[in-house]
Amino acid sequence: MKNIRNFCIIAHIDHGKSTLADRLLDFTKSVTERERKEQLLDNMDLERERGITIKSHAIQMVYNYKGEDFVFNLIDTPGHVDFSYEVSRSIAACEGALLIVDAAQSIQAQTISNLYLALENDLEIIPVLNKVDLLSANPDEVTDDIVDLIGCKREDVIRASAKEGIGIEEILNAIVERVPAPKGDPDAPLRALVFDSVYNPFRGIETYFRVFDGSIKKGQNIKFVATDKNYSADEVGTLKLVQFPKKEIQAGDVGYLITGIKNAKEVKVGDTITDANNPTKTAVAGFEDVKPMVFAGIYPVETDEYEELRTAMEKLQLNDASLVFLPESSAALGFGFRCGFLGMLHLEIIQERLEREFDMTVITTVPNVSYNAYTLKDKDKPIIVSNPSDLPEPTYLDRVEEPFIKASIITKSEFVGPVMSLCIEKRGQITDQTYLTQDRVELSFDMPLAEIVFDFYDRLKTVSKGYASFDYSPIGMRKSKLVKVDVLLNGNTVDALSALLHVDNAYDIGKRICEKLKELIPRQQFDIPIQAAIGAKIIARETVKALRKDVTAKCYGGDISRKRKLLEKQKKGKKRMRQVGNVEIPQEAFMAVLKLN
Ligand code: GTP
Repeated sequence: MKNIRNFCIIAHIDHGKSTLADRLLDFTKSVTERERKEQLLDNMDLERERGITIKSHAIQMVYNYKGEDFVFNLIDTPGHVDFSYEVSRSIAACEGALLIVDAAQSIQAQTISNLYLALENDLEIIPVLNKVDLLSANPDEVTDDIVDLIGCKREDVIRASAKEGIGIEEILNAIVERVPAPKGDPDAPLRALVFDSVYNPFRGIETYFRVFDGSIKKGQNIKFVATDKNYSADEVGTLKLVQFPKKEIQAGDVGYLITGIKNAKEVKVGDTITDANNPTKTAVAGFEDVKPMVFAGIYPVETDEYEELRTAMEKLQLNDASLVFLPESSAALGFGFRCGFLGMLHLEIIQERLEREFDMTVITTVPNVSYNAYTLKDKDKPIIVSNPSDLPEPTYLDRVEEPFIKASIITKSEFVGPVMSLCIEKRGQITDQTYLTQDRVELSFDMPLAEIVFDFYDRLKTVSKGYASFDYSPIGMRKSKLVKVDVLLNGNTVDALSALLHVDNAYDIGKRICEKLKELIPRQQFDIPIQAAIGAKIIARETVKALRKDVTAKCYGGDISRKRKLLEKQKKGKKRMRQVGNVEIPQEAFMAVLKLN
């Protein structure tokens, strides 16, 4: 155990985590040139395109320090707030963390919240100033920021360039010298923490774990504590670039486990693995069932593809336990599913995966958070409203509560004004303002989650010219004044366009939704009135004017070009349009409420 080091990397997106991890692997010769891909730790296609580590993985390397071999387990952490619970479990599996800070950008909100998580878990922090090669780097200033933030000595901060390969050996040495070896009792009953799981279509779920006490052996009868289920450990091993099966993984070490489980739901991140015949008395602390934060309907564009969509959703759920869905139906869109997501990014990922992996064309309806509604009849037990149509009629309604979050924003002092205005517009209440350095400020707000889901992040970037970073965590439900705003097209309510809004914003947003829909809905042979209404009361109106005859004639031309067009359309895949009544509604219309600026 004394020669094992378990660590993770805490960094803001783009500060160089993947590049640095790559360098550490190179230096320790953990990867042959042939195996070497451009970015080693991010191997899901979507991840690479988005530049975000969606799923954490782990990789082992061996480093020879002054003639002695040390086993390093680098546990990767996702960099996006949607996946913060996974980050917290990865951190709980480590004794140390590399804190990577971009020498030009300095510290960002996400980094700070993950750093706090690491400090709460008593991790040894090794600060690394990356990208010192950049002309725009401010190494001295950023070093000051780091020293202020974690209270280390200036000389503790390692100057590095992952790109140029500067400081790599120093980082590796620091991992040996500063990160404590794991503690634990190798003779106690097995106690291992699940920090991640990955779906493999051939082998089932691969569970990634860190052993705290005891050991896990091939063929052992094991038990997952939270789900209270037993399995046989068909295969255990360590994670290199490929998996290395082993007979046993001992206390202090990190590995993978294959049990033949096919469904991601049976393996919960944060759960404890123990021996079924000799279970531990103390599960690893901190287990939580992750709950979806954002809900939206997903419908097939072609109504007859409902069953196909169900099959696709079921398959997605096998490898993504945080996705939840229930069948629902909409008068406008027919049969589909109400789905729960960890956040907006998660929603986009699911939509993309449905299209890429399952060749489904889907319509996603206006996302919303989940509210608690109390009726006059039952003022104590809430109705959970995760679909606007579930909100009881105002006459039966006692009160509604909505989820609030604590938001942390770090920006430059010159942008404090605009950032505050934005947060106040979004119904935020400032709770704290701290100068981290002379011109970097951390602002804390209590805000409704719903306001974050809608366009907040883009607006924040705009008002701060990109110099703001943002992070949040839930702080519970608070009373709120909500109304359901309906949208009528051609006089018919389109339920899939309804939104739950705070009464103070409802009129303004209703008006802007109508304006936006007017831009988005294609013109047709007749006028299409667009109206927003609260109950029977119309609060806004716009009209999509009919096409003039000659324009249509040009569009559709002769028979042959029309056929060709049709063929092209089929080749390109179905367009994301949905016929509702006699009006064609494009996908963007369902997201209009989110992008009003
Ligand atoms: P995510 O995977 O999106 O979280 O980003 P990351 O933190 O893993 O960053 P990544 O390693 O992908 O680096 C982001 C960008 O910074 C890439 O274009 C890298 O080439 C560049 N980069 C990383 N390290 C350095 C460095 O030391 N110097 C310079 N100049 N660029 C660097």
